[in-house]
Amino acid sequence: MKLKKILVIGDTGFLGSSLKNNLSSNSLTIHFINRTLFDLSKAITPKFAEFLKYEKFQYVVICAAITDVELCYREQSISKQVNVDGTQALLELVSQAGSIPVFFSSDYVFSGKNSPYNESDPRLPQTIYGHHKLSTEIFLENNFANYLTFRTSKLMSKTNHQKNILYPVIRDLSINKASRCFEDQMLNPVFVEDIAEILKAAFIQGLAGTYHLGTRRIFSRFELGRFLASSLGYDTKLIEPIRMTDIRFSEKRPTNNALRCQKVEEALSDLRLLI
Ligand SMILES: NC(=O)c1ccc[n+]([C@@H]2O[C@H](COP(=O)([O-])OP(=O)(O)OC[C@H]3O[C@@H](n4cnc5c(N)ncnc54)[C@H](OP(=O)(O)O)[C@@H]3O)[C@@H](O)[C@H]2O)c1
Repeated sequence: MKLKKILVIGDTGFLGSSLKNNLSSNSLTIHFINRTLFDLSKAITPKFAEFLKYEKFQYVVICAAITDVELCYREQSISKQVNVDGTQALLELVSQAGSIPVFFSSDYVFSGKNSPYNESDPRLPQTIYGHHKLSTEIFLENNFANYLTFRTSKLMSKTNHQKNILYPVIRDLSINKASRCFEDQMLNPVFVEDIAEILKAAFIQGLAGTYHLGTRRIFSRFELGRFLASSLGYDTKLIEPIRMTDIRFSEKRPTNNALRCQKVEEALSDLRLLI
């Protein structure tokens, strides 16, 4: 079988670093790069454009983005530069090089009022981060015949990465400390380790379009905490409910963020990504 050449951009982040550890296959050759070689807040260098053209990657997986929702609000022009202008300039180059882009978007493109969402449901972001993600989704839809957009709600991991949403709960439980979890935030997170498997299958099957990734079961953050505690043999009373609506965020946050994932399940039917 001919090897597929893949480029992953953003290998220092939560998802990118996990792909570096987990995205390997006999049928893929994979290059990983980060901000030292390519900065989304700056103009693309001719050297980088030449690199993309010369290497002829089949897929370019973009994990680089500003993902801190508060920061996107506080520094809106930087968020626009990185998540909209820089990403879209990169996508244009990817297209010129004949590669297929893989973009990671977010449940934040939805209003968070009518979840669980299907891929084609109307999008109505409530935050700057969500607006900027939506802008790049639409750019792909309008300008590319072939692309992959994966929307996720939250990312979790089997590691103690600081962005793993399970980690703070496990850390608290392990020292017998109460862990406070939102009872009014509904979600279905996905393991970053499973995203590597999904990508491999997607590359082999030539998947295209927009797909949601997440667990089949929908949890509130509080239920997820209790599920974790009971699965790991800790006292579930250590999980204490708090309300997201009691926290002061700069922008109103969507609370009902679950994503329906049947489309990817049907497309990649042999994958067991759901708990
Ligand atoms: N984490 C979640 O719960 C979640 C949920 C929904 C969607 N997503 C999406 O999934 C993707 C990956 O998220 P993540 O959690 O892995 O993000 P992350 O941990 O915040 O990592 C972001 C990556 O982007 C890079 N980056 C930031 N600014 C850059 C710039 N100006 N130029 C080049 N690289 C830059 C970072 O590099 P440095 O290390 O150099 O800063 C890092 O490698 C993102 O598109 C995100 O929107 C994530």
